[in-house]
Amino acid sequence: MPNDTLLDLANLNLLLPGAARPLLADVSLQVAAGEVVGLVGESGSGKSTTAKAVLNLFPDDAHVTGQVRVGGDDVLAMTGAQLRAHRARTVAMVHQDPRSALNPVRRIGDFLLERLARTGLTDKRAARARAVALLDAVGLPDPARHLRQHPHELSGGMLQRVVIAGALAAEPELLLADEATSALDVTTQADILALLRTLREERGLGLLFITHDLHLAAAYCDRVYVMYAGRVVEERQASRLFTAARHPYTQGLLECSPELGETSRALRPIPGRPPSLADAFTGCPFTTRCAHSEPACDTWRPEPVPTDGGGTAACRRLPELPGRSAEPGPPAHPITQTTGSTR
Ligand SMILES: Nc1ncnc2c1ncn2[C@@H]1O[C@H](COP(=O)(O)OP(=O)(O)OP(=O)(O)O)[C@@H](O)[C@H]1O
Ligand SMILES: [Mg+2]
Repeated sequence: MPNDTLLDLANLNLLLPGAARPLLADVSLQVAAGEVVGLVGESGSGKSTTAKAVLNLFPDDAHVTGQVRVGGDDVLAMTGAQLRAHRARTVAMVHQDPRSALNPVRRIGDFLLERLARTGLTDKRAARARAVALLDAVGLPDPARHLRQHPHELSGGMLQRVVIAGALAAEPELLLADEATSALDVTTQADILALLRTLREERGLGLLFITHDLHLAAAYCDRVYVMYAGRVVEERQASRLFTAARHPYTQGLLECSPELGETSRALRPIPGRPPSLADAFTGCPFTTRCAHSEPACDTWRPEPVPTDGGGTAACRRLPELPGRSAEPGPPAHPITQTTGSTR
C-alpha cells in the first residue's frame, strides 16, 4: 500500500438482518492522495453503499466488520464531534440524487452558507462571496441570483452543480462523487471534471468516482474497481480497462458498452439479471451468468487473484481465460478531449 494512501477500505462486510447475502462482502479498496479511482458495476452492486461507508453512514441494523480508514484514522470508531468533523471537512460526498441533499423549502444560498459555516467561515459577507465563487467555479451562470432561489426553481443539472459546489465548500481531502456528473450535458460535465482534476493537482484531492459509464471511467480515472453483488471482482489500471480486463463480468460489461463511431459490433447483454439481496451464494456470485463457469466455481470463495501487468480479478478460472488484448482499445470519449488524463 502506498504511503500516501488517503482512503483504505479493508475487508469491509455489511450484513442486514433478513438479507440472504451481505450488501458488501470483503470490499477492499484504496484511494491515494491526488488519485482518481473509478467504481463501476451494475445497479445494486453496492457502489453507493461503499461510498456511504466512508462517511460511516450505514442502514439501520447493519452489522459491519472490517476497516475503513481515511488519512490513517479509523472511521468506524468515530463518534460525536470527531465524526461530524470527518463528514464536514475531511470527506465530502456528492449523492446520486441531488434533490435528496437539498431541503426544498430553503434557498440555495442557505444550503451553501450552512456548509461554509461548518468549516468555520461564519462571516456573512465573506461566506456569501465564497458561495458565489463556488457556484461560478461549477459553471452556474448568474450565481448571485441562484443563491436566492429554491431547489424547485433550478433544473436537475443546475442542482447537480449546486451540490458539487456544496461538496467542494469544505475543501475536502477526499471527494466521493456518486454519479455526480451523469445528469450534466457533456460540456458542463467536461468543465466539472476539469475542475476536479485541477483540485487534485493543486492540493492532492483524492476522488472516488462512481459511474455507469465505462468509457468515462477508462478515460478519466487512474484506476478502476469493478463491483458485482457487493464484491470487488476486478481492479485495473484505467487506461488498460478496455484491453486488459480479465474478469468475465468486466468483459461482459465492456461487451454491452456501445462504442463511439462503431456500427458493426453487436452489443451482447450479460444474460440473466443482477442478484438481489435475496439471492445467496455458496461460491462465486457470477456463476449463473458466466459463460466460463464450471461446477467448482459454485463453491469457490472469491478472492482477488493478481494478474499480469498489475491489477486483480476474482475469478477461479483466471489462469485459463483469455484476456481482451485482441480487442480494440477504448475509443475517444468526448470528455477526454477536454480533460485528457495527465497520468
Ligand atoms: N438502507 C438500505 N436498506 C436496505 N437495503 C439497502 C439499503 N441501501 C442499499 N440497499 C441495497 O443494497 C444493494 C446495493 O445498493 P447500492 O445503492 O449500493 O447499489 P449501487 O451499486 O449504488 O446501484 P445504482 O447503480 O443503482 O446506484 C441494493 O440491493 C439495495 O437495494
Ligand atoms: Mg448508487
